[in-house]
Amino acid sequence: MPIIAPSILSADFGHLQRDVEMINASEAEWFHIDIMDGVFVPNISFGFPVLKSIARHARKPLDVHLMIVQPERYVQAFKDAGAAILTVHYEASTHLHRTVQEIRNAGMKAGVAINPHTSVSVLEDIITDLDLVCVMSVNPGFGGQKFIPGTYAKVEALNNLIARKNATAKIEIDGGVDLENAGALVKAGADVLVAGNTVFSSVDPSATISRLRSAR
Ligand code: DX5
Ligand code: ZN
Repeated sequence: MPIIAPSILSADFGHLQRDVEMINASEAEWFHIDIMDGVFVPNISFGFPVLKSIARHARKPLDVHLMIVQPERYVQAFKDAGAAILTVHYEASTHLHRTVQEIRNAGMKAGVAINPHTSVSVLEDIITDLDLVCVMSVNPGFGGQKFIPGTYAKVEALNNLIARKNATAKIEIDGGVDLENAGALVKAGADVLVAGNTVFSSVDPSATISRLRSAR
């Protein structure tokens, strides 16, 4: 069964503790936390005070997705704020190999995210150093966007790369995941499904998490 990582970006920030507790009590395994700087992506989400508040109440690993330029500047700060998994964008990292080592040396799992236009093949020489690859299935910046179908082929290509290199990285899908495509994504080889809008706009978010997890 896939790991479900509800995206806090779609939570009600006026009732953040309530939404965090909902995830604690659900079948979700991770919290997905989107950090946006208004430079790498056209939107600004939230920063350390909010992340630390989430960490105080969350009882599951925080999967932190940095959509920021120069992510290497903040590795230790995100560790201190409670991140268990830290994902940086391939497109934002000039010295990606060094940044990945710094994330691991800081005691976190290391992820790399690739935008829809970025080929899986660019990960050839880094894949064995990664714990996670986040395949963006929308252009990053906003929740509630439409899933890009080309993602399926990327998941298959990534699976092949991981097998060929004997790597252990998990494959995470981020953006537009819903009850329609979740099953097909898992069949294609996805290990982790991020879901914001699908979970938080549903009448029963906890039940939606269960349904995403068992989608076939
Ligand atoms: C998009 C973010 C996603 C977002 C997903 O830039 O990286 O994590 O929260 O939201 P949905 O599931 O609503 O597409
Ligand atoms: Zn994300």
